[in-house]
Amino acid sequence: MEMKKLVSLCKRRGFIYPSSEIYGGINGCWDYGPLGVELKRNIKELWWKDVVLSRTNVVGMDASILMHSDVWRASGHVDSFYDPMVDCRSCKKRFRADEVQGGKCPKCGGELTEQRSFELMFKTFLGAVEDKASTIYLRPETAQGIFVQFPNVLNDSRQKIPFGIAQIGKAFRNEINPRNYTFRSREFEQMELEFFIAPNGNREWFEFWVSERMKWYRDIGIRDENLRTREHRPEELAHYAKKCVDVEYNFPFGWQELEGIADRQDFDLSQHAKFSGKNLTYHDEKSGESFIPHVIESSAGVDRILLTLLVDAYDEEPERVVLRFSPKTAPIKVGVFPLLKKAPLSDKALEIEKTLRESFTTFYDDVGAIGRRYRRQDEVGTPCCVTIDFQTLEDGTVTLRDRDSMEQVRVPAADITSEVSKFLKNMSSSPRPRTSA
Ligand code: GAP
Repeated sequence: MEMKKLVSLCKRRGFIYPSSEIYGGINGCWDYGPLGVELKRNIKELWWKDVVLSRTNVVGMDASILMHSDVWRASGHVDSFYDPMVDCRSCKKRFRADEVQGGKCPKCGGELTEQRSFELMFKTFLGAVEDKASTIYLRPETAQGIFVQFPNVLNDSRQKIPFGIAQIGKAFRNEINPRNYTFRSREFEQMELEFFIAPNGNREWFEFWVSERMKWYRDIGIRDENLRTREHRPEELAHYAKKCVDVEYNFPFGWQELEGIADRQDFDLSQHAKFSGKNLTYHDEKSGESFIPHVIESSAGVDRILLTLLVDAYDEEPERVVLRFSPKTAPIKVGVFPLLKKAPLSDKALEIEKTLRESFTTFYDDVGAIGRRYRRQDEVGTPCCVTIDFQTLEDGTVTLRDRDSMEQVRVPAADITSEVSKFLKNMSSSPRPRTSA
């Protein structure tokens, strides 16, 4: 699949737009349109439901983006969140040093400069004075918001170790080379879980979360053959991690990271205890011991998962383009069409659409030939369409069309909610076909 086809579809159909487009755009920033925002909401809701709501040992929180600048000193970001970069002396393009080999510019073959460090955190000022003392950072990860609230959440939630705190929110990194569409952006969203365990606690929690997260990716409909896990080599590990396993997806631009599951040990809480002077130990009533908890982290990128869903769903047939989203993630669940745009067909269709809208995200369309209306819904991945025709007026049935097989069956209009529900459930649990390679 060529990325440019997907990029064009995403713009044309309202999934993703370049940010500030009328001013020529801004590199590394993207806006989500009417369908993109629904897809994104579905991802976040499916994650929240799985990681937080379905468990008794995980609670949620929502920290501010701007935090005390000492947070980033303690976390190590002020000292070490830099990427080595090189510039091309001829075409002036800038690259991450790990992305170029052989000392020649990948764009023009020109000579490259020595490596220099490039700070990844965005800075701004808090309050009226713009000086060093008022400098603060836009958070480059949501995780630190969780660590610094650990004592409050522990106190208030009545949780006992092992337990987790989860959060979804924006993060910002001044990436040297934003690329591959939304894959590497400067503003993005993370879904992070920090799972606290005893220092000598069960390290099997690490494998547990790798397995839980892989299950989730399969469950939201990502094709298994395009998913894998990959353990970091020692030289790849972040400064805080003892072990890290990435969940990767096979994009048209290669296997790339969607999520990292890391054993952060007690690095963060120890650092915050040191820098804040506060006691961040946990007292275990059973053993009578006090200790700084260790942390298993699962950190996933919403935008990367959204791009994955689009790539994974994209399919071309000779006559149509179809996004084969699982009904769980599809932005629109059901299209509703009157065969003709006139009463009494349109009255009946509007009535059915209103009923369906109580349970599903719907799209009503009464413009143009019916075949073209189906194609439009195929192209945005709507699992099924309901059409109201002349037979509806005679026997009270409507057609229910399957996006993948394009087959239509007649079902009673009076049972439309349960019929659509049954259809979506069925489609969610069946393997999805694919025509193109
Ligand atoms: N708290 C750990 C942490 O932030 P990370 O591997 O730097 O670890 C976690 O980031 C996830 O956040 C990545 O797996 C990716 O999905 C997402 N992410 C990181 N940088 C990104 C970027 N520039 N654009 C889009 N997503 C990004």
